[in-house]
Amino acid sequence: MKYIPLGSDILSASEIALGCARMSTLDIQGAVNIISCALDEGINLFDHADAYGNGLSEETFAAAYKKLGYSRDKVVLQSKCTIRNLDLPTQYYDHSKNHIINSVNESLQRLKTDYLDILLLHRPDPLTEPEEVAEAFDLLKRSGKVRYFGVSNHNRYQMQLLNSYLSEPLAVNQMQFNLTHTPMITAGMNVNMVTDESVMRDAGTIEYCRLHHISLQAWAPFQYGLLRGNYLGNYEMYPELNQKLDELSDKYKVPVSAIAAAWILRHPAHFQVLVGSMTPSHLKDACKASGIEISKVEWFELYKAAGNPLP
Ligand SMILES: NC(=O)c1ccc[n+]([C@@H]2O[C@H](COP(=O)([O-])OP(=O)(O)OC[C@H]3O[C@@H](n4cnc5c(N)ncnc54)[C@H](OP(=O)(O)O)[C@@H]3O)[C@@H](O)[C@H]2O)c1
Repeated sequence: MKYIPLGSDILSASEIALGCARMSTLDIQGAVNIISCALDEGINLFDHADAYGNGLSEETFAAAYKKLGYSRDKVVLQSKCTIRNLDLPTQYYDHSKNHIINSVNESLQRLKTDYLDILLLHRPDPLTEPEEVAEAFDLLKRSGKVRYFGVSNHNRYQMQLLNSYLSEPLAVNQMQFNLTHTPMITAGMNVNMVTDESVMRDAGTIEYCRLHHISLQAWAPFQYGLLRGNYLGNYEMYPELNQKLDELSDKYKVPVSAIAAAWILRHPAHFQVLVGSMTPSHLKDACKASGIEISKVEWFELYKAAGNPLP
């Protein structure tokens, strides 16, 4: 497993991390199995959110981690706040100082730890008051409850606005990115064209992150649409892509999921790939991405096979 510096070299993290959104579906032994598999593979960052399983994912992780008996500082724990009442008709987004602080206190209780290594704002809140966010982050930093801060699903201007108020710059932005979800790079290849592909949907997020040393994390690396299902092995929807994945899987002698993750890792922005599998053999397969580097030509072949034309 390769390790990459996060932010301005604040932490060293495995280039593949474990997304714990579905850990709430496991019993404690199931969670022990997937966490110990992750640690054996060299994964050191575990991604949580207050909303995952309505808090149960964090609780299950903590119970399993206690059973494993490792020290707290062996892992980088990241959690998120902002989404209130996830998947209910009453859902809304909240960057208020009270919510940020309460959410962290509750995550710390569930995770049975004194501090989060990283806290992310899960989604942009259109009613955000950056002064309040800055106040909340300062309080959390001073009290030792959070070491570093970042965002998720934020565009360039939203990060720029926050950064102009924060005492310490954002370290991370977690974005949806995979072979079947490429708006962050597609617009950049279609500048000044009168086509759907030329529409800039994120205001230049990758470029802003690279300029300001904000690490990018790719969520849902194997799913198409908004968590609509797996594209790996889905020949009906993605025949050419799966053919190309199979061909490169034979060439590099790694599973197809490793090729799909290696496509993300090949980007020079050094994305961290957040794999959300709760099946140890699937996680091991994906981690094989860390040992290979596909060529530039192969990277473009995969991009085109996923249905993305070049201008
Ligand atoms: N910031 C955000 O807004 C946001 C949104 C969504 C997700 N996330 C983060 O991203 C993480 C990953 O998201 P995700 O779990 O939805 O996406 P994912 O890693 O792309 O997909 C994992 C799903 O694919 C299945 N799968 C089937 N075959 C697989 C294989 N060979 N290898 C790996 N997985 C395979 C897994 O089932 P098995 O468990 O049986 O392997 C699991 O259901 C989440 O846990 C969360 O931390 C963040």
